[in-house]
Amino acid sequence: MSNQLRYLISYPEMVDNALRAMPEEEAMASAVGGDYAVIGCLEHSLLVKHGLKPDSRVVDVGCGSGRLAVQLARYPKLDYLGTDVVPALLEFAARKAARPDFRFLHEERIHIPVADGAADMIGFFSVFTHLLHEESWVYLAEAHRALKPGGAVVFSFLEYAVGLAWPVFEANIAWVRQRSMAGHLNVFMHPADLRLWAERLGFVVEAMNPGDELAIPVTAETTVPGVLPGHYAMGQSLCVLRKPAG
Ligand SMILES: C[S@@+](CC[C@H](N)C(=O)[O-])C[C@H]1O[C@@H](n2cnc3c(N)ncnc32)[C@H](O)[C@@H]1O
Repeated sequence: MSNQLRYLISYPEMVDNALRAMPEEEAMASAVGGDYAVIGCLEHSLLVKHGLKPDSRVVDVGCGSGRLAVQLARYPKLDYLGTDVVPALLEFAARKAARPDFRFLHEERIHIPVADGAADMIGFFSVFTHLLHEESWVYLAEAHRALKPGGAVVFSFLEYAVGLAWPVFEANIAWVRQRSMAGHLNVFMHPADLRLWAERLGFVVEAMNPGDELAIPVTAETTVPGVLPGHYAMGQSLCVLRKPAG
């Protein structure tokens, strides 16, 4: 049995397969879950709701093909770092964001490559969904280290109680029955456990929204073509943890 971490095999394989099966633009959207502009808009709007400033220092862990980076490219003074385990996604994200000062780093460890207390906001959108709980815990401990006092970590997760997420669990069960677990993990988390993690890691829970709650305000400033200003759900549940100001 290989001792390679699963996420280092499954995601690169999935991106390779997508690139073989469809044109690049389509493959790069599909590899991160599709709805490139709409989800990017929701991720951006959520960061704004929780305090994003035009000159914030943002780390986007598991940035993929740049759904969020493309939206953040509008802020000339924003400091952005995206990390991911798949070089092809990073390369596409850098091209799409078209911001030479935005940094995109290939990082295979569960590590956030910034100094202690340097970041205002750290996002993990649809990343913990593909990791073991222990890997997500280490990432959250890293986020606590890397955030400024008063900074926030924002992440999405799959939750059993949300009807939209249940088919994902059924697909996991089908894999088990077929004795072939193709592709990446789809891992579920529970808000009560996340509250306990937050307490143990030294965070304050600022928000915990089920994936079907219309918790994301899209405004005239954050909207994209095809999304009217209003309140939206992302499908995945949302958690915002704040590092106490001191
Ligand atoms: C569903 S995609 C989401 C991408 C991006 N956050 C977005 O919302 O568009 C999940 C991403 O997590 C990345 N990923 C998987 N394992 C990772 C890890 N251990 N550390 C960082 N990124 C990882 C994948 O390569 C992929 O880009």
